[in-house]
Amino acid sequence: MRKILFTLLAALTITGCNAQNNKAQMTNNKCLVVFFSHAGENYSVGNIKVGNTKIVADYISELTGADQFEIVTHKYDGMAYTPLTELAQEEARNDERPAFEPQINTSNGEAIKPSNIKEFFDQYDIIFIGGPIWWGTYPQVMFTFFDTYDLNGKTIYPFTTHEGSGLGSVVSDVRKAFPKADVKPGFSIYGHEVRTNKAKVEKWIKGLNL
Ligand SMILES: Cc1cc2nc3c(=O)[nH]c(=O)nc-3n(C[C@H](O)[C@H](O)[C@H](O)COP(=O)(O)O)c2cc1C
Repeated sequence: MRKILFTLLAALTITGCNAQNNKAQMTNNKCLVVFFSHAGENYSVGNIKVGNTKIVADYISELTGADQFEIVTHKYDGMAYTPLTELAQEEARNDERPAFEPQINTSNGEAIKPSNIKEFFDQYDIIFIGGPIWWGTYPQVMFTFFDTYDLNGKTIYPFTTHEGSGLGSVVSDVRKAFPKADVKPGFSIYGHEVRTNKAKVEKWIKGLNL
């Protein structure tokens, strides 16, 4: 019974973009989470079916009602960890722009295909951008996204999952990509921690005053 009451209370007090009883809803702010995440063999967590960053993106959607734009590439499918680190290093060194496909889902997991993606972004005032740290910043495929869509004018909350580098250089990289966006201080969490520490994500989101 106490657990049910606590859950109900938590649901009422959570801040969010689309959730009921919150400031963001009253100001019509709509949130989107843009992210890349690599499932498969990875450092510290073994062979994972769902990538660490995707788990954080799902927490954000659950907590705020944010829709999701997943940056999907099949370039790294099935790769073992060490060759992947070598390929990623090569891509970073050459400042490559690997191709991606968008996978867009509403906050309740329903896939949607907007006819005009540029107009699709117009709906959102607040955009969370997240990815793993690969060699000190986001994977190069996220820079392909940055080159493709203009998020100037948005409020952006960058986040990372990592295994020691924290935010790396992502905040300045996002500011460089979108100089006219309001890029807020970022949030980072260890990849091996995401499955057991949802509370850390929740604390961050609650502190944002969305
Ligand atoms: C290619 C590659 C490079 C990485 N480079 C770093 C790094 O420079 N610093 C760091 O802290 N973690 C690094 N990691 C660990 C990932 O950031 C971490 O495991 C992250 O949680 C993975 O998220 P994902 O499962 O969403 O892809 C690297 C992992 C890979 C696969």
